[in-house]
Amino acid sequence: MIDSCQRNNRPRSTARRRAALALAAVGLLAAAGAVVLPVAASAGTTLGASAAERGRYFGAAVAANKLSDSAYTTILNREFNSVTPENEMKIDATEPQQGQFTFTNADRIVSHARSRGMSVRGHTLAWHSQQPGWMQNMSGSALRQAMLNHVTQVATHFRGQVVAWDVVNEAFADGGSGARRDSNLQRTGNDWIEAAFRAARAADPGAKLCYNDYNTDDWTHAKTQAVYNMVRDFKQRGVPIDCVGLQSHFNSGSPYPGNYRTTLSSFAALGVDVQITELDIQNAPADTYRNVVNDCLAVARCTGITVWGIRDSDSWRADQNPLLFTSSGAKKPAYDAVLAALNGGTTPPTTPPTTG
Ligand code: XIL
Repeated sequence: MIDSCQRNNRPRSTARRRAALALAAVGLLAAAGAVVLPVAASAGTTLGASAAERGRYFGAAVAANKLSDSAYTTILNREFNSVTPENEMKIDATEPQQGQFTFTNADRIVSHARSRGMSVRGHTLAWHSQQPGWMQNMSGSALRQAMLNHVTQVATHFRGQVVAWDVVNEAFADGGSGARRDSNLQRTGNDWIEAAFRAARAADPGAKLCYNDYNTDDWTHAKTQAVYNMVRDFKQRGVPIDCVGLQSHFNSGSPYPGNYRTTLSSFAALGVDVQITELDIQNAPADTYRNVVNDCLAVARCTGITVWGIRDSDSWRADQNPLLFTSSGAKKPAYDAVLAALNGGTTPPTTPPTTG
């Protein structure tokens, strides 16, 4: 089996050591009265660079039709070092007719990202939602075969370009049952999830393979426990899984839970990475954003955070103003809180410090 390699991120210990060495060097130079040059021009001043200093990524969901909006791409290119296509890799987008694959919009996002050194999260290979009509009308072994072929074709197309795949999305039911969600895929047999993971591993052995879901943030919730039990079972039986994605769409109906860090560390203790894959928070309270970042930083295997859009106007929940940038592209207080948390709790100076 392929080990879950650090395909994209520097190991944290190396990042720490580098940071410590850089600090020591700065101290020596400062003591000698020399001019201090920053280690990396943007370190500590953008979300991506600051996350990278902590051995992590900071990403955004990106829509292909916004890549021609320069206000949008200015923020994307400046702040983020990871990208998740918001809709363009979904089943209805990539296989609109059975056996006919379209990758134009997804490829556009992948090429925008990779040509600028950003990594790409793939989202998503198997899901009950956003299925094309032909798939919605299928069932049984024909659907199982069509799903596996979809996973194979799409993961093969993007092989080597996607660092992590949300192989299966939202397969568990809400509420207290801890059961699988009913869907046409679920009705093909309970083993549909592991079959999808095996097909994804075969198609792209280098990509990290994630299970992704929402309402799995509160450690005490039945849905969280059900996903945890599935991941533990997969690890025990050698089903190829490398990561768990927590969507973390927080709002008054499903608020940020005080035990979020316990959830992250409990999943990580199973031997998988944890990624916060679709973060947005109703009204973008700075303290909640800060808590989420600090919780991720406290868990070694929490490897990165993705916000689900860039400006409030880009959000699927635009009425909640849940993101880090206003609709006109200004940084919100939540942005400053996230950046400061990534920088270890200190706000970076807006101009370089004077020395000597
Ligand atoms: C959303 C997109 O943001 C919308 O543009 C689209 O209309 C519906 O899907 N969970 C997921 C994401 O895994 O794919 C969803 O994205 C948001 C909820």
